[in-house]
Amino acid sequence: MYDLNEDTITDAVLDRFAATPDARLKLLVQAMVRHLHAMVRETEPTFEEWRTAIDFLTRTGQMCSDVRQEFILLSDVLGVSMLVDAINHRQPDGATETTVLGPFHVADAPQPPHGADISAGLPGEKLLVEGTVVAASGTPISDAVVEVWSADQDGFYDVQRTDLDGSALRARFRTDRDGRFHFWTLMPAHYPIPADGPVGDLLGATGRHPYRPAHVHFMISAAGHEQLVTHIFAEDSPYLDSDAVFGVKTSLIQPFEPKPAGTAPDGRVLDQPWRHLIRRFGLKAAGSAASDLSDIRTTDYVMSDN
Ligand code: BEZ
Ligand code: FE
Repeated sequence: MYDLNEDTITDAVLDRFAATPDARLKLLVQAMVRHLHAMVRETEPTFEEWRTAIDFLTRTGQMCSDVRQEFILLSDVLGVSMLVDAINHRQPDGATETTVLGPFHVADAPQPPHGADISAGLPGEKLLVEGTVVAASGTPISDAVVEVWSADQDGFYDVQRTDLDGSALRARFRTDRDGRFHFWTLMPAHYPIPADGPVGDLLGATGRHPYRPAHVHFMISAAGHEQLVTHIFAEDSPYLDSDAVFGVKTSLIQPFEPKPAGTAPDGRVLDQPWRHLIRRFGLKAAGSAASDLSDIRTTDYVMSDN
């Protein structure tokens, strides 16, 4: 195959992959070639621009480590993570909507008893979370594993803080016979995604901010059901309409009700105002094409500059 030009090279490359034995791999690689070539035709990059793009991808790879996954962060800010999530989680009625896992999930979080305060002495406004896990049909699910994690009042996760010994604002619970769990944590703040690498450079160069609205993460696993990865967003948070990773869904926004000092429903006496989050989570029955996202992000990362 000689004398290829801008009109003939795409078909020549597609042909070269035509004998790929795995049909799915063939589809993916050929689609990638078609779309990449279309982008180059549309934008006609100079060699300098092409080298800048290669350098950006190189730096993205170099930023990755045991504790940081810059390519997933890139996928997040390009909306690709949420698109893959949407395609894989077409939820039936009664099932809670999903959103990104994010980099701050830690496997094997502590397993305190129901009602525990997981704030590990950090300062902030107390938040009581009361949840129920049900099947999409509404039947309570007992013995579901509920993993929770959130940022503190300064917008940092425990893994980002060098001044903390051990975990904070994260835990694993098992639902009781009525599908219930509850715990005390702190009202999370909105925060910037890690922006000290090439992804942050991209946001800066394109006039985008790096912020996510305040939220609490939930990952819920139960036999016979698809794992649910979601957040609940605080209704009064900034950035709900411009989340850096496009993860906000209306059904996941709700009040974290402000309450005056006094006795909480579990009998705890508070001398400061506190917040209350009550939420039901619906799980989709297993057996469809959705996958376990916790396998994708094999590492959890910390910001390198704090
Ligand atoms: C998070 O919510 O923890 C998160 C999600 C995507 C990128 C960065 C952080
Ligand atoms: Fe988060």
